[in-house]
Amino acid sequence: MKAILTGGAGFIGSHIADSLISQGAKVLVIDDLSSGDLANLSKSVEFLNLNIADQKLSKVLKDFEANVLIHCAAQASVSQSIKEPNFDAQVNILNGMQIMDYAVKADVKSYIYLNTGGALYGEPKYLPCDEQHPINPISPYGLSKWTLENYFDLLLPTSAKFTSLRLANVFGPRQDPQGEAGVVAIFSRRMLDDKDVKIFGDGEQSRDFVYVEDVASSVIAVLDTEAQGHINIGSGEQTSVNQIFKQLSAEIGYSKKPIYEPERQGDVRHIYLNARKAEKDLEWTARINLEEGLKHTVNALRG
Ligand SMILES: NC(=O)c1ccc[n+]([C@@H]2O[C@H](COP(=O)([O-])OP(=O)(O)OC[C@H]3O[C@@H](n4cnc5c(N)ncnc54)[C@H](O)[C@@H]3O)[C@@H](O)[C@H]2O)c1
Repeated sequence: MKAILTGGAGFIGSHIADSLISQGAKVLVIDDLSSGDLANLSKSVEFLNLNIADQKLSKVLKDFEANVLIHCAAQASVSQSIKEPNFDAQVNILNGMQIMDYAVKADVKSYIYLNTGGALYGEPKYLPCDEQHPINPISPYGLSKWTLENYFDLLLPTSAKFTSLRLANVFGPRQDPQGEAGVVAIFSRRMLDDKDVKIFGDGEQSRDFVYVEDVASSVIAVLDTEAQGHINIGSGEQTSVNQIFKQLSAEIGYSKKPIYEPERQGDVRHIYLNARKAEKDLEWTARINLEEGLKHTVNALRG
């Protein structure tokens, strides 16, 4: 198995790379390190420090003869997408279309796209959201990620296999604790350093937290099955930000109270995903529960 993995130096991509390597795959990571880190990368991957739209990749992809393109590279921040919607669209739509085009011309037959589930459905009409829930993104990020899914659906040859994994809120080791998103990493880092922790809004907003290694196993499950289409990947459980704060405080022994700030634009109030299709089609369910995942994350940050 030969896989091209974009964004493989990032948080989620690097765990996908590790899982692919452990399955004996040959992996070529393409990442411009705009938010990724070389320290995340397994020594066993081949690595190219390039933008996914770089025209050098046209030949690279032909020479590599991959079985699959796993497209994980993105501008992955909701707040950044609100500040710079053009840049967000450039990376998440246009650059994504370019690497897809190179892969099609290199005759790659299978495509896996790491999409968002959390930022796609908008303010839910019902919960948990299944894949049939109306799509109504409320941020440029949700819109750009959804748009590329549509381009994959429209432009890939009908003989190609395409799977879009619509991910819930992913957490775990290697998530950037200095970022603007990823409450688990941000809270954990600040609690470990005994700094104040900010919560935007009243903290009762809820999310579906899925552990990063479970997400990596969902990619392997796609490779191991014939399943395709749009598939939610989440824990199917609803957890409030206040609950995350409480559980992490207990785990770390942090005694300060959170500082509540006004809620942020672009964030929905409640979202969690129905992942029954993943269970049925991929034989996948989240295996690492929140408590265990939080422990692993904190331990990784403790170093
Ligand atoms: N983190 C989450 O909770 C979450 C939830 C749903 C979906 N996703 C999706 O999963 C994927 C990975 O997200 P992440 O949280 O690991 O983010 P990340 O920022 O850690 O990873 C993205 C990677 O893509 C690289 N990259 C960005 N633009 C590039 C370009 N033009 N050319 C080459 N490389 C480029 C970055 O350097 C980085 O290594 C993204 O597609 C994101 O939209 C993430």
